[in-house]
Parts: sequence; structure tokens; C-alpha cells
Amino acid sequence: MTADAVRGSPAERRKDQVRSRYAAVATGGACCGTVAEAGTCCGDSGCSTQPGYATEELAHLPPGADLGLGCGNPAARASLRPGEVVLDLGSGAGIDCFLASRRVGPGGRVIGVDMTPEMLSRARAIARSGRYRNVEFRLGEIDHLPVPDRSVDVVLSNCVVNLVPDKAAAYREAFRVLRPGGRLAIADVVATRPIASKERSDPSRWVSCSAGAIEVSRLRRLLRSVGFSRVAVELAPAARAPDGHRKPASVGAAHIRAVKPSR
Ligand SMILES: C[S@@+](CC[C@H](N)C(=O)[O-])C[C@H]1O[C@@H](n2cnc3c(N)ncnc32)[C@H](O)[C@@H]1O
Repeated sequence: MTADAVRGSPAERRKDQVRSRYAAVATGGACCGTVAEAGTCCGDSGCSTQPGYATEELAHLPPGADLGLGCGNPAARASLRPGEVVLDLGSGAGIDCFLASRRVGPGGRVIGVDMTPEMLSRARAIARSGRYRNVEFRLGEIDHLPVPDRSVDVVLSNCVVNLVPDKAAAYREAFRVLRPGGRLAIADVVATRPIASKERSDPSRWVSCSAGAIEVSRLRRLLRSVGFSRVAVELAPAARAPDGHRKPASVGAAHIRAVKPSR
């Protein structure tokens, strides 16, 4: 049994805080507008509404799928192809699933996994009304994915792994479900300088995507230790000062890519 499985463990409490936060977002509408009392969902992270999406893409999104919770456009760097199976970790109201659905087409499949039942209800209702036949949403935690081994071509995720207490478990799970040669394409918040432990233990900072971020060098090491190759972590321009050096903010958005080796 992992420490996380022990009821009432710090990790379990952290997940409960995250779950309640995103349940309120799912039932209340757009995050950054309606849950202001707890700070914005992506408050200090450098995230903003609809970052990285082309206007043309957004025009095809079903209403209610974009809650302004992301910190990049993971599929934009994933070179999705017709017929592929895509998994979105922490799919929220489904924005990246619905965008991926168009790219993989009727011969492909998109699975969104989220641990917040209210988010799933919202995403499923949107999928039903928009008749997305190649998209399904599953209740689950990304460090214990309800997905078989080697069944997925591409793992996407948008502003989620920073919220997960056991990031190594989450990346091990992503590796497990990918087919050999499968790709990881994630947008997430990373730490651009060490985060003080006082800040790390502040629940409101954790749920707003700032305190749970890990440093880029640690993230690269973690991905390689799990088995990924071709690891690339690219800081978004907002996380860099104009002279190209990292600015002193403690977190920023990044695009993270890696490949599961073919053998
Ligand atoms: C900041 S929102 C991002 C939602 C979506 N990816 C988007 O870009 O709109 C974080 C989402 O991750 C989900 N989440 C957080 N931790 C999770 C975990 N351990 N397992 C599954 N889902 C998780 C939350 O329920 C929430 O829907």
C-alpha cells in the first residue's frame, strides 16, 4: 500500500482540497471569474484564459468546454494523426479532448480522465450534446490510471501534474499506458526557482497551481528515470524575461515533451 492510499494522509488531503476546488469550478462556470475568493485557479502560475490556442481551433469548441484552466495547448505540439488513441490526464471540462477529437477523426479515440465527478459530469454532458462519438470521460486519478498497459499513442495533459502530490507515480502511469514509440505532450506549471516550504504547504497556493510545481531540472531527471527519451521542457515566453533569462517569478508555464522508446 502506498502512503497516498492511507486515508487521511497528507497526499490524500491535498487531493481532497484539489477535488473540492475543481468541483466548485465545474459547477460554478468559468474558474477565473467565479471562484475568486480562493484566488484564481491558475492564479500565480502565468496561466491565462485560452493560452496557445488558434482562434480557428477555439471556434470549433463546444460551449462550456473552455473554463480557462489551462496553461498551454498540449495538442499543438503532439502532431496528432488520424486514427490515434489519445489520453488526456485531468481533462476538466474537456477542452483538449474535444480539440483532439477533430484531429484523430472518427477512426481515432480520445479518453479524458479526471478525479472530480463534477468535472466529469460537465464534460460528459458536453460530449453528449455535441455528439462526440470518439470521446469518452473516465473517473480516475492520474497516478492510478483506469487505462490498460500500452494502449495509448499520445498522452496529453494541461495544467494538472503540478496539482498531483506524487508526480513520479503520475509519470510512471503515463509511461505504462503508452505504446512503445508513444508521445507525451504536456503543458504544465514548473518552478523557475526553488519554492519555499511555507509556500509549498499553503493549500490555496497548491490548488491554484503554484505551490506544487517542480523545478525544470528535477522534472527532466524524473522523466528520464521513468524511462522516457527525447525529453524536452520549453518554458513559455511569459516565464522568461525579455533578455531570455528566467524572470524572478517562482513559477511559469512550460511545454513538456518526451517519447517512450520503441524498444
Ligand atoms: C487546472 S484544471 C485543468 C483542466 C483541463 N486540463 C483544462 O485545461 O481545462 C485541473 C484538473 O485536473 C483534475 N485533477 C487534479 N488532480 C488530479 C488527479 N490526481 N487525478 C485526476 N485528475 C486530477 C482536476 O479535477 C481538474 O479538473
